[in-house]
Amino acid sequence: DKPITLFELGKMRADGRKIAMLTGYDASFAALLERCGVDVILIGDSLGNVLQGQKSTLPVTLDHMVYHTESVVRGCRRPFIVTDMPFGSYHESPAQAMRSAARLMAAGAQMVKLEGGEFMAETVRFLVERGVPVCAHIGLTPQSVHQLGGYRVQGRDDSGAARLKADALALEQAGAALMVMEMVPATVAAEITSSLQSMASIGIGAGPSCDGQVLVLHDLLGVYPGKTARFVRNFMQGADSIDSAVAAYVSAVKDGSFPAPEHCY
Ligand code: KIV
Ligand code: NA
Repeated sequence: DKPITLFELGKMRADGRKIAMLTGYDASFAALLERCGVDVILIGDSLGNVLQGQKSTLPVTLDHMVYHTESVVRGCRRPFIVTDMPFGSYHESPAQAMRSAARLMAAGAQMVKLEGGEFMAETVRFLVERGVPVCAHIGLTPQSVHQLGGYRVQGRDDSGAARLKADALALEQAGAALMVMEMVPATVAAEITSSLQSMASIGIGAGPSCDGQVLVLHDLLGVYPGKTARFVRNFMQGADSIDSAVAAYVSAVKDGSFPAPEHCY
């Protein structure tokens, strides 16, 4: 199988074929995710929570993200590789963001992900014009947990929903090719997805209408000891191996059976 490119992801969106994205942090799991058909591996700053045992993603550094990106890239060749820009590595200026993105791209990332709405559009454009594909991330943005007052559903009221829609359109205009929506009511995420021209939406707690889905690997496998969100499904239940759990996730995303109503807001 040929490596997945941004062009192929755009075709999947246009054809209505769902994109299966999953976090991965090391070479062995990267190989496993690849053989189970995962399209996009996200080296998420969720590694602060699930690998490091931190209470939030805030302590994760650019060096950590480089290390895990290099590890994942050694383990696979087909999945498209997206790496999170950690807290503080892109907030000062577009130039700082470019400097951070360059380190992640040199480590093997094919796209960087950053959190934030319209206020990040200038930074997104700056990166895209310089050859760095960008995945946006709106809704519940974990790097802003202290500002948001906890891990809560976003865009519940009319003004919040309108804000999210304006954010999505601004990020698309700025050139983001993918956009994660986290903890957003399914109806709001569906309306945003249908209003987009080219950017693919990837949901996590954002309902079944997104162009793709993402989960944290440790949540999917049921090995994270902390509290898990409503949108998580433990795919090890009913599976006889890690491979079959990940394969079940991929097929449930592809056939639209995940997320089910009980995973949605
Ligand atoms: O860090 C992460 O794993 C993420 C996904 C949950 C989207 O940002
Ligand atoms: Na993240």
